[in-house]
Amino acid sequence: MKKILDVISEEVCAAFEACGYEASYGKVSVSNRPDLCEYQCNGAMAGAKKYKKAPIMIAKEVVERLQGSALFETADAVNPGFINLRVSGAFVAEYLRAMQSDGQLSVEKAKEPQTIVIDYGGANVAKPLHVGHLRSAIIGESVKRICRFLGHKVIGDVHLGDWGLQMGLIITEVKARQPELVYFDESYEGDYPAEAPFTISELEEIYPTASAKSKTDEQFRAEALEATAKLQNGVRGYHALWQHILNVSIADLKKNYGNLNVEFDLWKKESDAQPYIPEMVDAMKRDGYAYLDQGALIVDVAEESDTKEVPPCIILKSDGAALYTTTDLATIIERRKLFDPDQIIYVVDKRQEMHFIQVFRCARRTGLVKEDTKLKFLGFGTMNGKDGKPFKTREGGVMRLEHLIADIEEEMFRKITENHEVDEAEARQTAKLVGLSAIKYGDLSNQASKDYVFDLDKFTSFEGNTGPYILYTIVRIKSILNKYKEKGGTVEKGHLLAPVGASEKSLMLAITNFNSTVEQAYEECAPHKICSFIYDLANELNHFYHETKILSEEDAARQKSYIELLDLTREVLETSIDLLGFSAPERM
Ligand code: ARG
Repeated sequence: MKKILDVISEEVCAAFEACGYEASYGKVSVSNRPDLCEYQCNGAMAGAKKYKKAPIMIAKEVVERLQGSALFETADAVNPGFINLRVSGAFVAEYLRAMQSDGQLSVEKAKEPQTIVIDYGGANVAKPLHVGHLRSAIIGESVKRICRFLGHKVIGDVHLGDWGLQMGLIITEVKARQPELVYFDESYEGDYPAEAPFTISELEEIYPTASAKSKTDEQFRAEALEATAKLQNGVRGYHALWQHILNVSIADLKKNYGNLNVEFDLWKKESDAQPYIPEMVDAMKRDGYAYLDQGALIVDVAEESDTKEVPPCIILKSDGAALYTTTDLATIIERRKLFDPDQIIYVVDKRQEMHFIQVFRCARRTGLVKEDTKLKFLGFGTMNGKDGKPFKTREGGVMRLEHLIADIEEEMFRKITENHEVDEAEARQTAKLVGLSAIKYGDLSNQASKDYVFDLDKFTSFEGNTGPYILYTIVRIKSILNKYKEKGGTVEKGHLLAPVGASEKSLMLAITNFNSTVEQAYEECAPHKICSFIYDLANELNHFYHETKILSEEDAARQKSYIELLDLTREVLETSIDLLGFSAPERM
């Protein structure tokens, strides 16, 4: 469906043209003086010079033309030459009726769908998921859903970290504890045990221990580096042990991401890029891009216009080990081979920006991507605690995601059960849904690139710009609709009437912004635009609800129209929160 602003603009453009002016002057925008009008056109001022006429004269002519239009209730020329517009209730109602019967609630699918890979999540194998990975998962999931809603072919890839030093550290620590394990016997040629020599909780303790050790123990660190290189070179026992680490860890990650309502299409890992590395390196050498510098193989990526230093990309370390950069470059090759994407979006902590500048430049220079392939870095800010420092546990440690979620669910459960008797099992279920909305909305309502403060009290509040408030509004609508049905009414579509009240019209106008909002959120990879849209919409709904007797309305046709307006609002809200990655309960 056309956006309402475009429909209105076309009408005004035609009026400009009919008066002998260039049509493009008729472009309309949302009013910045809502007290005076709903939409405005400033074209008369823009055209004044060209036509050597006072802007107000032009505005008056155009307004005269618009008098017969079915779109407008009022069209006024105002000094020095504004055209102030209010749309007619009949027109808005007609627009909403078209929305009701549109399968996508007015959002048009892309005419030329793109293939888009979204690289998000990015958890590291064998390290517990912590809040740092939360943002990537939440933002990436929403961006994925928005792209998909617009009809693009989207592949969400978790791109696990499984090929770096952390693997060498874990292997070395396991070896120090259990040197007798068969994985370390180089002469062993048989099959390796199917059972992992550790559980997930042991694994989660092994990594931090090893990591701390490597900072003080030179010998240990050297061994870990060697183990990393051995793993990458395919030493059998190391590879088998690594496979155990993966299996144990991925099972746990799937559970955690599942709890967040985050679903990946692909569970690829850094190591999947390994087969592409030798050929990539050869080609970079052969084509003269890569050269040896102090033993390491590097590619220059600095550009003349750089205002800050962009260091060369290190492709291989002097011991031949692949780095984060290497696997990211080789992954681009793999993705091109598997999907031939038009675009790859990386949802990663903004502190990694330099890494991605290097990777993108290197990929372009060395021809890993086609010229028109878009590589986009969607860098997000840090989630801070109330003290303004990166979010920590009460004890000052790194907060495990599981614990954070559990804390929020507990708080929601407390609030839900506070004042009334509810079924415990149902309340737990509801607390889960509302808790997730609190976390996700709290995150997504901020522009991704900004740091934000994780404020439990604020995020879980049923009032203000929060997830629970949005869910509460949806549940309120559902409850009215249910009461209407209990009284024998049926909720249908297509009977919306022109509004009679001001709050009703405001609500209707708010709904019409859905398509432009989703489009903008897509273009700018900006889920926060959807958040501010639904916050406005929820406010309009509640305002309308407080001012209108719905269930006791005596005029049946009017009541039907109210009910359909509520139902459409619900549908738009529920579709929007689905794009954000959460959903609403039936009651709360
Ligand atoms: N595993 C990385 C980290 O924890 C994030 C991976 C992001 N994606 C990528 N293609 N580099 O920092």
